[in-house]
Amino acid sequence: TPKFETIAVETRGRVGVITLDRPKALNALNSQLMIEVVAAAVAFDRDPAVGAIVVTGSEKAFAAGADIKEMQSKTYMEVYTQDFFSEWDAFAAVRTPTIAAVAGYALGGGCELAMMCDILIAADTAQFGQPEIALGVIPGIGGSQRLTRAVGKAKAMEMCLTGRKMGAEEAERAGLVSRIVPAADLLADALETAETIAAKSLPIAVMAKEAVNRAFESTLAEGVRFERRLFHSTFATDDQTEGMTAFTEKRQPVFRHR
Ligand code: CAA
Repeated sequence: TPKFETIAVETRGRVGVITLDRPKALNALNSQLMIEVVAAAVAFDRDPAVGAIVVTGSEKAFAAGADIKEMQSKTYMEVYTQDFFSEWDAFAAVRTPTIAAVAGYALGGGCELAMMCDILIAADTAQFGQPEIALGVIPGIGGSQRLTRAVGKAKAMEMCLTGRKMGAEEAERAGLVSRIVPAADLLADALETAETIAAKSLPIAVMAKEAVNRAFESTLAEGVRFERRLFHSTFATDDQTEGMTAFTEKRQPVFRHR
């Protein structure tokens, strides 16, 4: 197992857990942390024994954004030629279901990382925001796109233009998070959700995720067609046989997972 310095990585049963761990910088996403999160997520994604991935931070901060001190002196030529932040695309491309468990600050890149996850569970202490405008930049890890798709133009525009933060209640009302839980229960709740997913057939869960994500990339007719073809292909799996047989035999299904 690779040695990580800015994150802690563990597996709990079939759930992979990535904990952001740069407490002195409120888990600001510097290059090292970015590389480590992406490496850990990709490794979990390749591991058929992992059926869901939880990403979390600390009580105070999920992540307070990209590391401003590291970015401060970068030039246009550097960020353009390196395609700065494009490494994060590999995180968004992970096929295994991902859950962000967010307490405290999820700002800038922190909000963007949370929004790259499939399910976003918020502690009552969570605060979301895209404050880049106050630094003379704009979101760079998909914030202007994913926030807009999640909460609509009205709130996304206001947040990206003013930098104002959104608390957990507002985030739930707006559709950014699936659920709010007391801060003390956040990890247990996220793990339970992850275990529920990981107990299902992994290839079928991957298809379900792919189908939902298709909604963001296609017309309704194309999306429905894509879904139907995937639905048809579930009938090629042992897990469809098992799932439906178990129902008719009035027992719990035992999925092969892969
Ligand atoms: N980058 C680097 N360091 C950060 C950081 C960041 N994004 N956020 C916090 N820190 C550091 C602080 O500099 C401070 O370090 P020192 O003790 O060495 O001074 C330490 O973390 C603790 O932070 P504060 O003392 O500021 O804590 P606070 O409780 O008073 O305030 C906060 C918390 C409101 C989140 C404040 O830290 C803050 O505003 N952070 C920056 C938020 C931000 O602008 N995020 C967007 C970054 S740009 C981006 O993300 C671009 C993109 O699209 C990817």
